[in-house]
Amino acid sequence: MSVSPEIFKEVMGRFGSSVTIVTFKHDSGIHGLTVSAFCSVSLEPPRILVCIKKQGSSHEFLSQSERFVVNILAKEQQDLAWQFSNPELGSEDRFAGASYKTTEPGLPVFTDNLAHLECRMVNQFDGGDHTIFLGEVENCYFSEESTPLFYYNRGFHTL
Ligand SMILES: Cc1cc2nc3c(=O)[nH]c(=O)nc-3n(C[C@H](O)[C@H](O)[C@H](O)COP(=O)(O)O)c2cc1C
Repeated sequence: MSVSPEIFKEVMGRFGSSVTIVTFKHDSGIHGLTVSAFCSVSLEPPRILVCIKKQGSSHEFLSQSERFVVNILAKEQQDLAWQFSNPELGSEDRFAGASYKTTEPGLPVFTDNLAHLECRMVNQFDGGDHTIFLGEVENCYFSEESTPLFYYNRGFHTL
């Protein structure tokens, strides 16, 4: 018996998670997309993964990038999460109005994050209709004051 995409989505919607925006730099400019498929993989060396759908416009750009940043969002960044999940918006419009700085290699980092991780791409694995990108964490920061944004059952929530 095969599992339908509808029931699979319903079930996975019951798994709440934090929300991130993965940002990166490509020859074509800076890019970013909202991602909840993010987790820690290894402590030594420090490694994380993100899963990105192959059909989106970001996939090809990210697959060619040497570095990316995982911005872990604070509760005030809900609008940003929607903006960076809108496939109708090009890169320039997604970053419009967003407050960010750039790291030494030129990657965007949002200034109001709960935390962020600066990663070097170490491998890419086929995961079906998504690719699993494995990154080694070169730098990471967190804010003592902020609280997280959560995504559960297709909606955003706070603590
Ligand atoms: C809360 C939330 C979590 C998401 N998580 C992921 C994810 O883990 N991987 C993914 O590929 N897309 C995810 N998306 C969808 C992408 O953000 C969306 O398809 C976006 O348009 C992709 O960017 P692109 O059009 O530049 O490829 C998520 C969207 C939302 C609202």
